[in-house]
Amino acid sequence: MRSKTRRPAYYTSQIRRKLRDYDTRLEFDMRQESIKHNSHTSPFVSRFNSSRGYFAYNKFFGIGLYEMGLGNDIAQVLANIPRERGKPLEILEDGPGTGRFLGELKTVLTREKVNCAITAVDAHFAKELTEHKTSGVINRLVTKPAELFTPRKKYGAIFSLMGSVHYTTNALRKSQLLKLAYSLKKGGIMLVGFNFVQEKSSSAYFLMNIMGGFSENPNEERVMPIRVEMDGIKRVFQKKGFAAHFCPYPFKGDDLPNWMLILKRER
Ligand SMILES: C[S@@+](CC[C@H](N)C(=O)[O-])C[C@H]1O[C@@H](n2cnc3c(N)ncnc32)[C@H](O)[C@@H]1O
Repeated sequence: MRSKTRRPAYYTSQIRRKLRDYDTRLEFDMRQESIKHNSHTSPFVSRFNSSRGYFAYNKFFGIGLYEMGLGNDIAQVLANIPRERGKPLEILEDGPGTGRFLGELKTVLTREKVNCAITAVDAHFAKELTEHKTSGVINRLVTKPAELFTPRKKYGAIFSLMGSVHYTTNALRKSQLLKLAYSLKKGGIMLVGFNFVQEKSSSAYFLMNIMGGFSENPNEERVMPIRVEMDGIKRVFQKKGFAAHFCPYPFKGDDLPNWMLILKRER
């Protein structure tokens, strides 16, 4: 996880370069195809929940936010992010699915008198997300794989709950994570939720869980305990001016992933 501080565009070009490798491209395309066929809105055909609302996001991220000493309510945390006078709080969601969370977040923030501008990036769900754009929830909609999206502005808050950071291939995950992290404004917060399994298995592969570790090129022979690896990543982020907190989601059976990473850009 060692890397220099770079601009987001650097990471998109790094990702494009990596995609010239045949195996990486093949896996990337296969994953996109699989997401397309499994992200339907009907619970009968979907393997992935693509329509979580504010309650579920808050239940999940509230745990990490609380452990970081930031409170346990997303809207309250966002209301405290510094913004320039007269400017909206810029929010980015990576992989919003149907956009249900964004619609509910906008309602809650409006009630709290927090003016926000929302960018949504998703490779799928163009129909549902376009409806949210038409209704004024989403200000900018990007419908392509988030790996190929270059943020052109800085965001006060970035959400990625089972988004591209989770679903991308190992080879691209580090670049994708850093690209989003370096798109944060000073004082901004990024909330990432992902499903991690220590052991490799065919069912974990089928469900596109993160297996083995965060490494771009996991060594099949050596599986570093996840907490050791996360501690290392956390220290690198701290050196780069971020407060970082990894924590497991402790509850089972409510269809939320098992780990989160919360980053706060401090400088
Ligand atoms: C399981 S759904 C989660 C949706 C929403 N965040 C939630 O928790 O309800 C995964 C979402 O991520 C999107 N997605 C997955 N990989 C992506 C990628 N590489 N680029 C952009 N979107 C991606 C899918 O299209 C889908 O909308």
